[in-house]
Amino acid sequence: MYRYDEFDAKFVSERVEQFRNQVERRVSGELTEDEFKPLRLMNGVYLQLHAYMLRVAIPYGTLNSSQMRMLAHIARKYDRGYGHFTTRQNLQYNWPKLEDIPAILEDLASVEMHAIQTSGNCIRNVSSDHFAGAARDEAADPRVYAEILRQWSTIHPEFTFLPRKFKIAVIASEEDRAAMRAHDIGLQVKKDDAGKIGFAVYVGGGLGRTPMVGKLVNEFVLENDIIAYCEAILRVYNMYGRRDNKYKARIKILVHETGLDELKADIDAEFDRIKDTVLRLPDESIRAIEEYFQDPAFEELPSTSKAFEDRVASDRSFAIFAERNLHIHKKHGYTSVTISVKPVGAPPGDATDEQMEAMADIAEQYSFDELRVSHEQNVILPHVKLDDLPAVYDALVKAKLHSANAGLITDMIVCPGLDYCALATARSIPVAQRLSERFADIERQKNIGDLKLKISGCINACGHHHVGHIGILGVDRKGEELYQITLGGSGDENTSIGKITGRGFTSDEIVDAVQTVVDTYLDIREQEDETFIQAYRRLGDAPFKQALYG
Ligand code: HEM
Ligand code: SF4
Repeated sequence: MYRYDEFDAKFVSERVEQFRNQVERRVSGELTEDEFKPLRLMNGVYLQLHAYMLRVAIPYGTLNSSQMRMLAHIARKYDRGYGHFTTRQNLQYNWPKLEDIPAILEDLASVEMHAIQTSGNCIRNVSSDHFAGAARDEAADPRVYAEILRQWSTIHPEFTFLPRKFKIAVIASEEDRAAMRAHDIGLQVKKDDAGKIGFAVYVGGGLGRTPMVGKLVNEFVLENDIIAYCEAILRVYNMYGRRDNKYKARIKILVHETGLDELKADIDAEFDRIKDTVLRLPDESIRAIEEYFQDPAFEELPSTSKAFEDRVASDRSFAIFAERNLHIHKKHGYTSVTISVKPVGAPPGDATDEQMEAMADIAEQYSFDELRVSHEQNVILPHVKLDDLPAVYDALVKAKLHSANAGLITDMIVCPGLDYCALATARSIPVAQRLSERFADIERQKNIGDLKLKISGCINACGHHHVGHIGILGVDRKGEELYQITLGGSGDENTSIGKITGRGFTSDEIVDAVQTVVDTYLDIREQEDETFIQAYRRLGDAPFKQALYG
């Protein structure tokens, strides 16, 4: 993984000292909250309903065991013993004391982490495929380019005060595991016929109150040109993006209002102007970053493992775990393991300090010291030997991290909602907890099969409800929390925005309503392997509406 050089280390420590001084001035009253706001937003500090919140960047979701241990230490020492993994592969602390935040940042800096550009109208943490570097289907390791973009976008002087926040995702396979087309810029690494690496570039995706699917703006931009091309997009956005209305300020609105062709002409003109400057990436620079992402010392192994097969045959729980939570690895004899941070009845994405430490220990012993955070709010062990899986599973059981629900209905994405968030119009975590209890039976979940359920506590859509196969949006109707259901959304390579079914349901009704939707699917599917989204795409929303509203 990427390691800080002297410049990075110095910059991050200086930023901690600068923020320490700003916090002291706020605590002493020298700065009002309004004056302090732009300063804290440069450092990942939000003000939520009950407390400040600190969002820590995990670049493209990759971290090592010492970093995970530090996250655990901070949760224990400065917070309430847990942290929350987010959909942009970061981690949030919900209860830090403002006075403690400089010390937290100092601890983070000691393991090459920070909270810069995790808030504010800048280019946010670049996200990527959580199986990057391990997946068999990738054209190249997308983290190489995510890191290049991270370096380019970090304190980029021109793009620190954009009209609105800006999110970039990089993937390198046809299967989109990072909701790439729900990002302001989505990049797919590809190889052309001559084997040269480049990118398909999508622009203008986003969720929030006006969800849009990213549009292909360029089929193939060579790797050496990718910084110049992104710079061109950002310049056009910075120039023409709306600053008069924050709800219309994202690039998706600019793409929509200007039209893709006209905007593409502007981008291309700017790109032509700047592509032969210092912004062209020399091959050596790309290869130098590649060095940081070399494969670990994999062994040559057969593609099957007796220890693994024996355990599958003798232990039903292990067999279900292996069926759901493993992902095919590029190297024979290895697999990527999804650690579900969605145990039944618990707030999705929350992990305790002890669980974080357990994950760090397991990664150190069995996954070359590497972990990933997925946008689905889970943690991944990217490189585990099949031979080691029984031991890994036993360690996960001990840490209560063995839920075998990856990709199933209880593996939900859920935003913090009214339990924490000052913008929320409804609670989302308690609804998720009740749904997870209702659908707890793992055999039943397996029978339902792949199903993405996503919940947001307001129209800002942090819980990705627009791209849930089943989406739930909490709204406020005259003081009562109501939950709207959307169906048919999807955040993968066939990204689509879900359609609202009709009137919302009360908090008491919503769990039954979701069950009605699921039962309807079970009734209408053609055969067992027709998934929910396939059945929906075949039949539309009519049978579901009929079942919900008569
Ligand atoms: C203090 C708590 C939070 C606040 C105030 C907040 C605020 C917002 C706002 C205002 C938007 C809409 C932005 C727009 O369309 O311009 C948004 C979108 C989003 N937020 Fe949050 N959020 C919070 C927590 C979270 C958490 C915990 C997650 C992940 C679990 C998250 C992930 C996202 C995502 C994925 C989007 C939609 C993607 C997009 O930008 O279009 N947010 N958030
Ligand atoms: S969707 Fe709304 S309630 Fe949920 S975290 Fe985002 S802003 Fe808060």
